[in-house]
Amino acid sequence: MKASVVAHKDFTISKIDDRVYGAFLEHLGRAIYEGIYEPDHPTADKDGMRGDVVKLVKDLNVPVVRYPGGNFVSAYNWEDGIGPRDQRPVRLDLAWHTSESNAVGIHEFADWCATVGTEMMLAVNLGSRGVDDARNFLEYVNHPGGSYWSDLRIKNGRKEPWNVKLWCLGNEMDGPWQVGHKDADEYGKLAANTARAMRMFDKSLELVVCGSSHMDMPSFPDWERIVLEHTYEHVDHISLHMYFANRDDNTPNYLGLSHKLDRYIETVASTIKQVKVKKKSKKDVYISFDEWNVWYHSNKKDREILDGNSGWPHAPGLLEDIYNFEDVLMVGLILNTFIRRSDVVKIACIAQLVNVIAPIMTEKGGPAWAQTIYYPYFFASVFGRGTALQLVTSSPGYETTHAADTPFVDVSGVHNEEEGTLSFFLVNRHTSETIETEVSLQGFGNGTVIDHQVMTHPDLKAVNTASKQQEVAPRKGDGAKIANGTLTVALPPYSYQMVRVKLG
Ligand code: AHR
Repeated sequence: MKASVVAHKDFTISKIDDRVYGAFLEHLGRAIYEGIYEPDHPTADKDGMRGDVVKLVKDLNVPVVRYPGGNFVSAYNWEDGIGPRDQRPVRLDLAWHTSESNAVGIHEFADWCATVGTEMMLAVNLGSRGVDDARNFLEYVNHPGGSYWSDLRIKNGRKEPWNVKLWCLGNEMDGPWQVGHKDADEYGKLAANTARAMRMFDKSLELVVCGSSHMDMPSFPDWERIVLEHTYEHVDHISLHMYFANRDDNTPNYLGLSHKLDRYIETVASTIKQVKVKKKSKKDVYISFDEWNVWYHSNKKDREILDGNSGWPHAPGLLEDIYNFEDVLMVGLILNTFIRRSDVVKIACIAQLVNVIAPIMTEKGGPAWAQTIYYPYFFASVFGRGTALQLVTSSPGYETTHAADTPFVDVSGVHNEEEGTLSFFLVNRHTSETIETEVSLQGFGNGTVIDHQVMTHPDLKAVNTASKQQEVAPRKGDGAKIANGTLTVALPPYSYQMVRVKLG
């Protein structure tokens, strides 16, 4: 079987915003406690942060991390996490039916972000709280000094403001599961008022208003239209979330889900345009896809705790999906979609980063390791920076419940002009056939293959564990060649690959 791709230097989609490779950390399960923070761990630094996790996160070159939630933020009092640790209150977290010790708060998280070299994306609580909470938190985080909240920050040990630019106006406010859930009109008004107040403090803030929690919400897509009608002039991004699942164990169908993602993005992009026209606005609003990942493996196991049958445990194992090889393909397809929609998706956050539906897993007192999905995220984040190419791909396909024709070969391409490189990320969705793929490189001059990484596995359900950390891992490929301006690469059945070309 064959597929062909045309890549032309002048046919581009957009400069990719680096923040499309962002991540998310919530006070949920063992994401924070035993995830990033474990003072008794042998690798812990002076702040109690796990060094082995820092290393794995640094390698990913994560540009931005969203915090502190998620559903958690909608009943969170950020003041609980500041000041002397031994005076911080223990609170009940209603979202996940657990206890929150508040041993980690904004100071500890900010220090950790500095250590791993990432920016903060902070969420304010628009569930149980509102404008006042948002303006106080903002003043605490960003004001240099000489006011009540900024002086309190200084007293608590941080002289310089953190100058966080990116703020989320609540989380999933369309969801009835959310503390303080609202209808679109109510939320739209509150978000607009909050945004106005925050911008009175600093006009240059980048604000993210809540869109839908997923595409099957009964309020979708009216939610986006109504919320944007209230907030269009006051915000920069509308947030979308989507989780992917293979519940009926149908891999071809599962891998077709990226079509649904594409439709979701397309629908919201159209709604943004509709409101822009209606408002006769000159500004643009973009999409912040600030929660995405595969999430279903742990659902059954979590019921006990979420139903409240285990009391209020502190940092129990929750949402600990153990990812398999087919999830590598799904994550590769999701990232390809974001690269191809980099004209409208300017921020995206894999949800989450450590232990909770995450590419990184840890054992208390033990090792930290890369789950299977770590690798496609790593390749895209490290090598997918630059300009997205408008590729023309011809590939045979198959029918799924999501689309009449799902191409077997899915590919995205990135041109990094500064480095003089091209990076292609390729997924073969075919169950049994190798697909000989030709990529015609037009207008780029000469090129040489400098890196070729391949992920395949005979068992779609293979996973990485503490004792078998490299069961699913990339290996160097040697079959990608360039001759007469054409890159040829064979894509084995059910495979993920990255091919990098040095130009000149
Ligand atoms: O990431 C897990 C949860 O998924 C988040 O808390 C919530 O925003 C979403 O429903």
